[in-house]
Amino acid sequence: MEIKGISRFSFPTNIVFGPGAIKELPGIFKELHVERPFVVTDPGFAGTDSFKSILAVLDGEGIKYSIYTDVNPNPHDTDVEKGAKEYEKDGCNGIVAVGGGSPMDAAKAIAVLAGQGGVVADYDAQKSDGKAITGPLPPIVTVPTTSGTGSEVGKCSVITSTELGRKIFMCSPHMLAKQAVLDPELVVTLPAHLTAFTGMDAITHNIESLTAPIFHPMCDAIAVKGIEIGVEYLEKAVNNPTDIQARGYMMICAMMGAVAFQKDLGTAHSMSHALSAVCGLQHGLANAICLPVVMNYNKEVSKKEYALVARAFGVDIFGMDELKAAERAIKEISALNKRIGIPGALKDVGVKKEQLAEVADKAFLDPCHLTNSRSSTRDDLYNLLLEAYEGEF
Ligand SMILES: [Fe+2]
Repeated sequence: MEIKGISRFSFPTNIVFGPGAIKELPGIFKELHVERPFVVTDPGFAGTDSFKSILAVLDGEGIKYSIYTDVNPNPHDTDVEKGAKEYEKDGCNGIVAVGGGSPMDAAKAIAVLAGQGGVVADYDAQKSDGKAITGPLPPIVTVPTTSGTGSEVGKCSVITSTELGRKIFMCSPHMLAKQAVLDPELVVTLPAHLTAFTGMDAITHNIESLTAPIFHPMCDAIAVKGIEIGVEYLEKAVNNPTDIQARGYMMICAMMGAVAFQKDLGTAHSMSHALSAVCGLQHGLANAICLPVVMNYNKEVSKKEYALVARAFGVDIFGMDELKAAERAIKEISALNKRIGIPGALKDVGVKKEQLAEVADKAFLDPCHLTNSRSSTRDDLYNLLLEAYEGEF
């Protein structure tokens, strides 16, 4: 990619990784001067043994904490606003996000309201008069329990506006966690289908950030390695849930994908955000189905990068025509989807053809496609959705 002007690179989140890493939480709170953490999770994870094991670590050190579980999947602005009130009422001074993308995104948004006041809509990045997130915010610690979103190292939250019926993006470097705690033992109970969906989300992050037309060679290198790891370990994690190596590497793949997408994402994400909003489709599942269609759309422009995707699958690309290698990469992604139990078409996961026009409208409003390697009109997005509906790749 051509060098134009000044670039800034930053990789600021501290990460502790490994089986048993949650035992480091008390020391982390001490270092961050957090006396009363506000633990944000979702109702499902709150009932698990994994969550109890985290609380046992805090109890063992006599740490007092508050627990907040009113977090919907695709968290609502009302979840965030209620959480911020409870944070204040309980006199907390730090936030711990435990779970998948939804509690992570909710927790980071709660930190914004706790630090700066107001409501979620005030910080809508799509509004020209959106309030800037300037900090300081309460320190955020993230403990992921899925391997997909990468929100544990991301600077954004995606919150559903109950009034506008669309996603609100809140983004700021102040929303980055001070510390991410990646413990693969927390992920072993994740069911196979969610392992597959979230894993394909992570792979999509790596692929879309690699092809985003932004000058960031460091993120590009991270994305290439993230793709290699995802391709090697996702199927193993789906087939052997207690394989701590596969689980650990998928956590790394997700974290690397999110570090890489500080570059930005692409059209598969615009489509999947809209599919979640209109059809309630799980985010990673939507990405998995849309990714081959979008790669086919991009293949001329992104053939060099897609050849690296083919290489990650073990294809010998030496001397191979780049377009052919790109087409091979698309086939490999579709085949991986199939092997891990992901249907090949939107029509097979409950999406109705008559919903696609509304999905295309919403996808066009979503900013991710603006950083896709090939630009799209609203009608291009509709046609891509039709292809994904029929499962053409
Ligand atoms: Fe994603």
